[in-house]
Amino acid sequence: MTKTAEHKIEKLKAEIRKHDYLYYVLNQPEISDSEYDKLIKELESLEKQHPELITPDSPTRRLIGGLSNEFRKMKHPTPMLSLENTYSVEDVTEWYGRIAKLLEERTIEFAAEPKIDGVSCSIVYEKGFLKYAATRGDGETGEDVTFNIKTIKAVPLRLYFAGRIHAPSLFEVRGEIYMDKMEFKNLNDNILAEGKESPFANPRNAASGSLRQKDPSVTAKRPLKFFAHSYGATREIFRTHSDFIKLCREFGIPTVDTEVFRDIDGAMKYALSIQEKRDDYDYEIDGIVIKVNSIAGQKLLGTTMKQPRWAIAYKFPAMQATTKIKDIVFQVGRTGVVTPVAEFEPARVGGVTISRATLHNFDEVERLNVDIGDTVLIERAGDVIPKVVKVSKKISDGFFHPPEKCPVCGSKVIKGKEEVAHRCINPSCSSQIERGIKHFASRSAMNIDGLGEVVIGHLLEKKLVSDFADIYSLKTEHLYKLELFKEKKAKNLLDAIEESKERPLSKLLYALGIRNVGEKTAVILAQRFGKIENIIKASAADLAKIHEIGPVVAESIVNFFGQPSTKNLIEKLKNAGVNTVEPEVGKAKRVLSGKTIVFTGELQRYTRSEAEDVARKLGGNPTSAVSKKTDFLVAGENPGSKYEKAQKLNVKIITEEEFTKMVKR
Ligand code: IVH
Repeated sequence: MTKTAEHKIEKLKAEIRKHDYLYYVLNQPEISDSEYDKLIKELESLEKQHPELITPDSPTRRLIGGLSNEFRKMKHPTPMLSLENTYSVEDVTEWYGRIAKLLEERTIEFAAEPKIDGVSCSIVYEKGFLKYAATRGDGETGEDVTFNIKTIKAVPLRLYFAGRIHAPSLFEVRGEIYMDKMEFKNLNDNILAEGKESPFANPRNAASGSLRQKDPSVTAKRPLKFFAHSYGATREIFRTHSDFIKLCREFGIPTVDTEVFRDIDGAMKYALSIQEKRDDYDYEIDGIVIKVNSIAGQKLLGTTMKQPRWAIAYKFPAMQATTKIKDIVFQVGRTGVVTPVAEFEPARVGGVTISRATLHNFDEVERLNVDIGDTVLIERAGDVIPKVVKVSKKISDGFFHPPEKCPVCGSKVIKGKEEVAHRCINPSCSSQIERGIKHFASRSAMNIDGLGEVVIGHLLEKKLVSDFADIYSLKTEHLYKLELFKEKKAKNLLDAIEESKERPLSKLLYALGIRNVGEKTAVILAQRFGKIENIIKASAADLAKIHEIGPVVAESIVNFFGQPSTKNLIEKLKNAGVNTVEPEVGKAKRVLSGKTIVFTGELQRYTRSEAEDVARKLGGNPTSAVSKKTDFLVAGENPGSKYEKAQKLNVKIITEEEFTKMVKR
């Protein structure tokens, strides 16, 4: 009995290791998260029945260490060095000149790879098993973080060496612990929502803070990952850096992506091309490391006290800068939310000039303790909009306070009960109306071509409209009153307005701008209820019965339709002939039911938002980022990084043509 249990356990562990390898090293998972979890559960239950068969490399043993009061000091077998930083092509050329002289070789091959903005760490494997792990510390001595490192699933507890006879006796890999940009954002959102701790300033701090936890069970919950980039003590033999990277990957250790170049020009070109694409990476990179590829060459060049002579970091322009806040202004949104926006002296951040950034809300202003005149650290992190990280020099003696009156209409501004936002209480505030109409006419809502910000501004100024239903009473003679319109343009706009009356209910619901009702919820509501009257009649309890709708959204909807002004508005829209029903789509036609779809590149037949509408209508779930949960990617002309990512993750890729055929069936 135990024999078969032992056999089963060993088989399961090997299978889990294989899937870790496919996922973390090759980026080509073959099973879903839930199937993976099932394997772990199966192993857990077998180990529970046979505790004598538990081994330290079992994936169920990732979380073993208890609380520790301090991190033991650990001396590194060989010092963990740092890198010489350079910031220009000339500096790299100068470095090349130096080493070319020392090496006296005609051609020098280089390996180049992203410089990961994480926390360096050393992991030692003995006889193929993870023995201990340490932080870099001062380079000579680091801190023992073995228990915490073991919780990171990307770090193998036992090396994967299919096809080899012997496990490597000693293998010390060095690399970076890091956190994906997206995971960092989610973590900070959760920290802010809980309101107990301060959010992390950037993914590196988040990785470092998560790694240096006294309780490994906290680290285990943090989405940390690992990339190897160099080695310490080892008895393995490799001829080049790129061979070392290959070996790591064979062992199941995720690595940085290394490319080999025949000369320095090739490596430098690569560095500049990656600089352009740095925002496309899922994680923060702050430069490119260029290394002499040959290990013999590296040995000849040797190291200085702190740095190897055989490597150099070409650093990208900093993503942070300090500047002074000139003013804090307000924006009044469609729902009356008053948002503080900092305006500062223009600063270059990551190659882009920035002169303003949202401060999000007044809680954030208080947390940052920021005011006009203060010098602040600003940051442009990846594709995230610029933000104020902290005050670096305080001039004023307090923080900027919310206005008591709306800066646009002068009405009272109040803070809602359970929300951070401050709102202008006047529903007829012109800023709210203007933004409301803009949203109503926008492409993803009623899609009225020609009704943009400038036209709306003029219409409001001349008092030709005061809510969005008024758009439907506009006549040619009204438009002629505005200087903007001549015959053709007026006709085009009126045609576009007329055409918008035929939009399905889902579009109208989204266009109404009900708080917490986005495009997705609007489609769900329209498909469930069919007619606007049915939604108006529905109670919060009826709405909350729908799986995708929570109590907060349900209450927003009931509140919205309960207001007398909404009733008037709906009547006005109906009288104008605006459609308020959702055309039925038969079950058989919901060909994309439950499928997660991503679009990339230029499509010929649809705009991006139309394509997403088509997908949604047929039961699909369009999303913006490719992950292993994506069912397929529809690729148009000139697809970008999503295409490469889909290929890497083995996500099915189809052409626009194929997508059109699929939806026409
Ligand atoms: S090679 C002998 N390669 O950058 C130095 N380092 O600023 C070996 N880093 O402490 C390091 N990405 O932790 C190397 N692709 C990469 C790297 C990298 C990030 C870190 C490393 C080092 C620091 C130096």
